[in-house]
Amino acid sequence: MTSTATLMLGIETTCDETAAAVVERQADGAGRILSNVIRSQIDEHAPYGGVVPEIAARAHVDLLDGIVASAMKEAAVGYAQLGGVAAAAGPGLIGGVIVGLTTAKAIALVHGKPLIAVNHLEAHALTPRLVCPLAFPYCLFLASGGHTQIVAVLGVGNYVRLGTTVDDAIGEAFDKVAKMLGLPYPGGPQVERLAAAGDPHRFAFPRPMMGRKDANFSLSGLKTAVRNEAERAAPLERQDIADLCAGFQAAVLESTADRLTVGLALFQERFGPPRALVAAGGVAANQAIRGALQSVAARAETALIVPPPALCTDNGAMIAWAGLERLALGLVDDMAAMPRARWRLDTDTPTPAQFANTRAQH
Ligand code: KG4
Ligand code: ZN
Repeated sequence: MTSTATLMLGIETTCDETAAAVVERQADGAGRILSNVIRSQIDEHAPYGGVVPEIAARAHVDLLDGIVASAMKEAAVGYAQLGGVAAAAGPGLIGGVIVGLTTAKAIALVHGKPLIAVNHLEAHALTPRLVCPLAFPYCLFLASGGHTQIVAVLGVGNYVRLGTTVDDAIGEAFDKVAKMLGLPYPGGPQVERLAAAGDPHRFAFPRPMMGRKDANFSLSGLKTAVRNEAERAAPLERQDIADLCAGFQAAVLESTADRLTVGLALFQERFGPPRALVAAGGVAANQAIRGALQSVAARAETALIVPPPALCTDNGAMIAWAGLERLALGLVDDMAAMPRARWRLDTDTPTPAQFANTRAQH
């Protein structure tokens, strides 16, 4: 470690992963992960077919201290060496957010370190810069169990939402379809696996929002269509389930490709060419969706960047990295920082002057 490098502890507890990591930012802006410890609560929530907020909050309380200790130990650094402590302060399940933010405040206070209260969505948005030297502006496609958004990332703290879902998140739709077909939670990987053995043309599912001028998503009509066909085809044989999965996934792919094509065109119109299309969130682990994103990016003549799966899904390293990016700009918080169940990434559309500044920011 050089004397100009900064170390950050990052804590993530907004959903069903308890995570902590230590990340270093070098003087030239390059990132290095020293530790990235994650404990998924999938087993605790699986019997209920989804995340139960009370169970999640309790599990974070039980697990977090040990996970933070492991992250510090694995990184082989002491608290005195940290440049700051970052926690996801929202958006998310409020019980978990309180646990993570309070823990970060306690560590920051005891060791006299700056606290950075990170927006979880901002952390997803900045993750590609942890793994490669990507300059602003770029276009983020965030698709997880809780969020589906197309965001223009113009600079640290400077985001414009170009599209979002008007009902379910994409991952949530995968999970709900899986549940109605009797597949275990989380449903995304199960649906993808079965879709590979199914006929995507057997059921004629709608392609939600196709051809619309805005870049928004809608999944609930498609989900209902799958439910109706599943009821009609009952009792379901294995092949029926595979065909339903294949038909659903094909509809999601086509709709997503269309929505992103519009999103990239809106980006281009307002901010010029993006330096890349970046995918994040658990849904980006889906190989078929990745393939669709690849073609969308190629048609828009931009690069596709998908961080490694462990950094696409919720983790502590992305929180630490967002903390480092904010700290480098002097953006720190105090003990009054509030946990937030809801926290939009874009508060305002940037002024042209702000935008000119961020074009120069690297
Ligand atoms: O980002 P993530 O780990 O957690 C949050 O929701 O914040 O995303 C989890 C979501 C779940 O809904 C899961 O079903 C979905 O991502 N997912 C997938 C795949 N792997 C995970 N969806 C479709 N295909 C997959 N292979
Ligand atoms: Zn997330």
